[in-house]
Amino acid sequence: MIMSDLKNDLPKHLAIIMDGNGRWAENKGKNRVKGHAHGVRALQEVVEEAVQLKIEYLTLYAFSTENWNRPQEEIGVLMKLLVNTLRSEFEKLLENRIKLKVVGNMDQLPNFVQEELRYVVSQTQNNNEMTLTLALSYGGREELTNTLKKIAEKVKNNIISPEDIDESVINEHLYTRGLPEVDLLIRTSGEKRISNFMLWKIAYAELYFSEVLWPDFGKEDLHKALICYQKRERRFGKTSKQLIG
Ligand code: FPP
Repeated sequence: MIMSDLKNDLPKHLAIIMDGNGRWAENKGKNRVKGHAHGVRALQEVVEEAVQLKIEYLTLYAFSTENWNRPQEEIGVLMKLLVNTLRSEFEKLLENRIKLKVVGNMDQLPNFVQEELRYVVSQTQNNNEMTLTLALSYGGREELTNTLKKIAEKVKNNIISPEDIDESVINEHLYTRGLPEVDLLIRTSGEKRISNFMLWKIAYAELYFSEVLWPDFGKEDLHKALICYQKRERRFGKTSKQLIG
């Protein structure tokens, strides 16, 4: 398939659960953290390709609320890797006019990570070629819990009345507010789970599971997922006949 064909019917919002870093390293007899370092290479390749294809929104699950239960050493390495990657990729974000956004419970992240994220988010806020969102210290249930608390507070203070709560009010209070619905969700490494990712925004996402471990995932694998997505019929509850009509 040539690039121009691939570009025809792309997801507006692509989300990826980058899984398999640990297994990649273990398979090679290496420490798990080596897998994360190689995961950054895959991340660079996929972001670059998404820019080439002009995908508007790319969201990556980089660290879940459950990942805080991992060994302290691994968490420490991941945090440092994140900051180093933000620094090394900063110029590329500016050159490609990529806006960085972060979703999740930021308060839980170490200060040096929060500071770096705040800096890159503020420096890229006016970029408009692509929105790259990192889900960090993110959990879908935590997001919904936080959303409910914020809305309940407004109800308590008579800012919103319960009858006015609808899907758009919920949308406005999510960490992921401003992002469109996810069109395609890719998970690597052969696992077929959602793992608490973007629960509200994936309601009608097409799901694609790749056997490839994240550090080995490259642009050809991304193309395969996109071609598969393009063959799907997205009915959103309607019948095929209605769609044709
Ligand atoms: C899942 O693999 C991956 C993660 C928990 C972290 C993802 C991180 C990166 C791709 C690199 C660093 C991130 C940024 C944003 C610079 P796993 O460890 O769960 O793999 P396993 O299931 O094989 O153990």
